[in-house]
Amino acid sequence: MAQSELVLANGRVIDPAAARTGGSVDRHADVRIQDGKIVEIGAGLRGARVIDLGGLWVVPGFVDLHVHLREPGQEYKEDIVTGTRAAAAGGFTTVCCMPNTRPVNDQRAVTELIVRRGREAGLVRVHPIGAITVGLEGQALAEIAEMRSAGIVAISDDGRPVMNAGLLRRAMEYARTFGLPVVQHAEDLDLAEGGSMNEGAVATRIGVRSQPVCAESAMVARDLEICGYTGAHYHVAHASAARTAHLVRDAKRRGLPVTAEVTPHHLVLTDESCSHYDTNTKVMPPLRTRADCEALLEALIDGTIDCVATDHAPHSPVEKHVEFECAAPGMLGLETALPILLELARDSGGKLSIPRLIEVFTDGPARVFGLPSGTLAPGVVADLTVIDPDRVNQVSTEGLSSRSKNTPFLGRTFRGRAVLTMVGGRTVHDLDGRLA
Ligand code: DOR
Repeated sequence: MAQSELVLANGRVIDPAAARTGGSVDRHADVRIQDGKIVEIGAGLRGARVIDLGGLWVVPGFVDLHVHLREPGQEYKEDIVTGTRAAAAGGFTTVCCMPNTRPVNDQRAVTELIVRRGREAGLVRVHPIGAITVGLEGQALAEIAEMRSAGIVAISDDGRPVMNAGLLRRAMEYARTFGLPVVQHAEDLDLAEGGSMNEGAVATRIGVRSQPVCAESAMVARDLEICGYTGAHYHVAHASAARTAHLVRDAKRRGLPVTAEVTPHHLVLTDESCSHYDTNTKVMPPLRTRADCEALLEALIDGTIDCVATDHAPHSPVEKHVEFECAAPGMLGLETALPILLELARDSGGKLSIPRLIEVFTDGPARVFGLPSGTLAPGVVADLTVIDPDRVNQVSTEGLSSRSKNTPFLGRTFRGRAVLTMVGGRTVHDLDGRLA
């Protein structure tokens, strides 16, 4: 419901982007929203309607650089309405969707369709990511300029790597002229040999074909050389390994225009989770080791990794109720990301601070793709999320808004969730009916 004037009073207002302008990042305050914009943050604000939040957190709406909405073509898994509903429920106000749809988003008509369907759904902002190569086939560059004018915010062949280094170089040179980030699904297919999980003791024990960590890190190392040569913005999708974090840290020190994201599942789950052949733990890149999780968290804390992205990858039972090696890779992410990160922050004993946690969901990703959201600065659109850090919730098939239910977290109880999500001042998720 649209509110012409609203005060969200008595909240813990956390806006990491404010640090850049010398503003307050974390304070107790009221937020006044008028005509879809944030107009003022301060104490004792008045307005036509005042909602007392009783200390709940008010943060910028979350931005996810990596989701699969499956529309067009695989609406039996998810569509733009169900996917953006799941996003709103998870506290996200902006999602960027990968082009591995059917047909692939490798041309203007598909980009336009996604933009239009996103608007019609009327929930969160949807920004398409265009394919790097036609049909994700790695042979010829897609119509990048055409897609750019239709609204893509980055290019990627996600789900598949760009194996041909020469083609990647041309894509990076071309993308650079438009200022578009090139997002790589780093997986050297020759090293990966079709492996379904991480190479190591667990895979050997359970007898599943596996792929080594260097399938990812070798490709990132190669790509960083091309990044340095072309000067194009290179973004590592779903970094899964300590080696990858190390390479990105070193490249950033050398001043390369590189950014990286990590998923919640790569931060908290290891290949041990695959021991029982639960196909919901099959993801690409695969879950690694505890040492990798720890290195990724370290990299997220020190800024080597810029943001959390969910890689929300809905699949139906048709793709998941099969043998581990035959299952499609991917798990849901939008509705569990915040609860997982809150648990991780609590378990980190303060190493992952709450402002940093909020930053990696808001200003961090917004800056990677140059999106205008991710802050509560007065004057910007009112994309915001209210979090109840103590709200207990058990993940269940009935409770998930996504059309698919493929998550290994089913049955898990978490503390903390988004209770209210607003996009441009409109309520798109209101768990307790505060604004009803
Ligand atoms: O686990 C994954 N699932 N990784 C990818 O890169 C693609 C995604 C999908 O589309 O299902």
